[in-house]
Amino acid sequence: MESSGTALSCTRAALLLLHLGLTSSMAQKNEFQTGLVGGEVTLNCTGILPESQLPRDSVVRWKYSDTLLWQTSSLLTKPIFSKEPSFIAGRSDIKMQYKQLSVRDLKLSDAGIYTCEYGTHKVHTSLHIVNLEISLDGHFLQNEVAKLILTQNSSSPLPDLSITLFDNNNNRVTPEIQKKNLQEYIVNLKKLETMDSGTWVCQIHSDSPLINQNISFPVKVLGFQNPDLERKYATVDSAVILSWRLNSQKIKWKKGFTGQINWKQQEGAESHVLLDFDITAEQLHETKKSNNLLFEIPESKPESHIEVKLPKVHFNHSGQYQCQLEYERRHAQSKIELVVMKVSANPAGPLSRGASVTLTCQVSGPLAPDAYLSWEPVNGSKMDIKKSKQREVKLEVTISTAGLWSCDLIEGSDKKISFRYHVEEASVWIINVIIGASIGGSLLAFALGCLCIISGVRWQRRRQRAKRMAQARQHLLENKTCQCQQ
Ligand SMILES: *[C@@H]1O[C@H](CO)[C@@H](O)[C@H](O)[C@H]1NC(C)=O
Ligand SMILES: *[C@@H]1O[C@H](CO)[C@@H](O)[C@H](O)[C@H]1NC(C)=O
Ligand SMILES: *[C@@H]1O[C@H](CO)[C@@H](O)[C@H](O)[C@H]1NC(C)=O
Ligand SMILES: *[C@@H]1O[C@H](CO)[C@@H](O)[C@H](O)[C@H]1NC(C)=O
Ligand SMILES: *[C@@H]1O[C@H](CO)[C@@H](O)[C@H](O)[C@H]1NC(C)=O
Repeated sequence: MESSGTALSCTRAALLLLHLGLTSSMAQKNEFQTGLVGGEVTLNCTGILPESQLPRDSVVRWKYSDTLLWQTSSLLTKPIFSKEPSFIAGRSDIKMQYKQLSVRDLKLSDAGIYTCEYGTHKVHTSLHIVNLEISLDGHFLQNEVAKLILTQNSSSPLPDLSITLFDNNNNRVTPEIQKKNLQEYIVNLKKLETMDSGTWVCQIHSDSPLINQNISFPVKVLGFQNPDLERKYATVDSAVILSWRLNSQKIKWKKGFTGQINWKQQEGAESHVLLDFDITAEQLHETKKSNNLLFEIPESKPESHIEVKLPKVHFNHSGQYQCQLEYERRHAQSKIELVVMKVSANPAGPLSRGASVTLTCQVSGPLAPDAYLSWEPVNGSKMDIKKSKQREVKLEVTISTAGLWSCDLIEGSDKKISFRYHVEEASVWIINVIIGASIGGSLLAFALGCLCIISGVRWQRRRQRAKRMAQARQHLLENKTCQCQQ
């Protein structure tokens, strides 16, 4: 009897334990959720029946720690917010169907334990809050360094986060990460380039509690689409347009900024402001600042382009043209080095037979390390090509044959600019006429007589010499009456 009594009480105890276990597992739930500062979370009252199936008199309460936030009752059509003003006043709601608590515009201090209570049930949700702050509000100028500050807050012990970063092309980047303490991490990015503009992703991970969160953030890098150092080449007296291509439209940079274009002939020389500009509400306004250099602002140009036009380049217009941007007292710049080429001949004028002329080709420096000058005949001469040493800005060639000569500036294997110079031959038509005349035989004397007079005319009209020469020869050969005797 005794033993059966013991057996019975054991069974009871077991049933009681089982019952307790069941009720506790039904009554207590622990959840975990992560939210981002500025974002929104919806906390579940896990296991609750939908509104229509809840017992008529049931009351559901949402609490933060021990503070009542919301109360709903099936007798009420609307949930009631706690009478005392709470930290989430105006930022939270109850979704009636499943009594979820949603909180928007999250703050770091919203971290903590949120409890949903109905009947004997309690669902605890530990809300973990993460904040990602981007230096300079995500608006950078090219070559600036970005810094991210990641902060977390929780009422439970803070996990050690692992941070992975993906750039705008979804490539993994390995930044330098400083862990100040478990609460704050500092991520230092490299110098940014304009092409880094776009949406980046910061991935945070922890095993316990399990956190897998992607935080995307926009990066805008204002700057130039020109290469770092651009060289522009022009021959003397030609027109040249110097153009800076901003990326403000491409990256949808909405904020206003200003800038200027200045010029200095060489490093250390005085700098002259050519124009000021500002871009407000994506509209460009330019103001011409200088008149000591003959330049124009082209009327029509592609959007986001800042340009100056030199309609007739002088050799002394060479040098550094810099476009500088200014945004919130920070600066970015891009330079165009204008290289000008000129050619002169000594002595000037047509080349007489047996004489020689020295052609000088000169470019404004400084040149690229692998640049050199070269003189070569285009036609009319079989003379060899003459090359300068690397980085030499002047090359002379002495020639005794007329024809078209070309001075080229070559960088590596690229011909950057050429100046063609025509050396005219003073005696060329005389020789031709003599040949023509000798065919005429006895007309030689006449021909030579004509020569002096015609050549006088010829000197004045050198440019059309070849044509006239042909005419003169024709005249001598076909029309044997020579009027020069008069
Ligand atoms: C909340 O509950 C809904 C529906 O039951 C579910 O789909 C969702 O994943 C839950 N959310 C969380 C954070 O547990
Ligand atoms: C972290 O959250 C707690 C409440 O859980 C709050 O008192 C504290 O100020 C928060 N810390 C920060 C840095 O916001
Ligand atoms: C987070 O973003 C990375 C990179 O874009 C992606 O590979 C990963 O699947 C994302 N993870 C989640 C949880 O969305
Ligand atoms: C450049 O040279 C031209 C003559 O070649 C001269 O008229 C002009 O004043 C010079 N300009 C500057 C800025 O030195
Ligand atoms: C030399 O080149 C110039 C320009 O290309 C051309 O007008 C001329 O006829 C050429 N002369 C010879 C002799 O080929």
